[in-house]
Amino acid sequence: MNTIILAIESSCDDTSASIIKDGEILSNCTATQDAHKAYGGVVPEVASRAHQVNIIPVVNLALQKAGIAKTDLSAVAFTRGPGLIGSLLVGVSFAKSFALSLDIPLIEVHHMQAHVMAHFAEDPKPNFPFLCLTVSGGHTQIVLVKAPLEMEILGETIDDAAGEAFDKTGKLLGLDYPAGPIIDKLAKEGKAVFDFPEPKIPELNFSFSGLKTSILYFLKRNLKEDPDFIKTNLVDICASVQTRIVSILMNKLELAAKQTGLKEIAIAGGVSANSELRKTLQEKGKELGWTTYIPHIQYCTDNAGMIAVVAHYKFLKGQFTTQDVIPTARYEEI
Ligand code: KG4
Ligand code: ZN
Repeated sequence: MNTIILAIESSCDDTSASIIKDGEILSNCTATQDAHKAYGGVVPEVASRAHQVNIIPVVNLALQKAGIAKTDLSAVAFTRGPGLIGSLLVGVSFAKSFALSLDIPLIEVHHMQAHVMAHFAEDPKPNFPFLCLTVSGGHTQIVLVKAPLEMEILGETIDDAAGEAFDKTGKLLGLDYPAGPIIDKLAKEGKAVFDFPEPKIPELNFSFSGLKTSILYFLKRNLKEDPDFIKTNLVDICASVQTRIVSILMNKLELAAKQTGLKEIAIAGGVSANSELRKTLQEKGKELGWTTYIPHIQYCTDNAGMIAVVAHYKFLKGQFTTQDVIPTARYEEI
């Protein structure tokens, strides 16, 4: 018999549903929420309400695109955390009632484990063990991946995440939220002529809050002398900030590869959509003899396809969840 799973992701501001059949993704549909742009960041209450509106149409679309009927489903999977509690509640409650009505099992998925496992949505897949730099709006981690569901965090941010560094810089520059993709685009036309300091953080941990402060003072200083400083230098500022964020990430990844002796190296999460990070990883990989893995853009930012991949492995192991499960905003262990 085939194993067909419906997976739901609702941890932040994207409502996504995916169907996976025997490990192969048949559909991956996402409704993004534009309502947050006006606020310069995700507003939790606005996000939960939009999930309520989007979830049924998105699930219907995923089923329809996959050519699957509800009665064909073997299980329902959902993101249990980490994320915004109100957003998670919508996905968890929907998954619970859907599974109950169809009398099929529930599978809970850890969002950060799913970002890593996005690499198993398509070929080529990394060989175990491998290192994954997971960089998103909420997390920055170097993960040692020993087996499909067996991971160890070797280092992580002690303050802001890499995505936050992009988004907060964007706010200082007057760009829309999320600023990561906008900075990426603008940086292509600029040169990294401004030097921002690289923080000295021990071992494999990261810090981005100092960078944000130095950008703030750099802008204040220059705007005093020239009120049009941002306007005139926008593309160069974007290129400079992006280059520094990428170098912070790559230097730690290189150290992790050295310490572990691993040469299978992957990146994942929303910031892995960044063109300079993707290019630098490939170049570094060639130089150091790494085999590098970069997910397609649709599997970098939040999506239910990656939740479906983890659910597939959990189904094979019989790792199901009971109906009394509740979402959790903080969910550190993976
Ligand atoms: O993984 P994700 O979709 O959601 C979280 O789990 O946080 O990541 C979203 C983050 C945002 O901070 C966004 O600005 C960033 O990923 N991002 C990018 C790019 N695309 C998305 N950052 C830099 N360059 C990009 N091209
Ligand atoms: Zn994410």
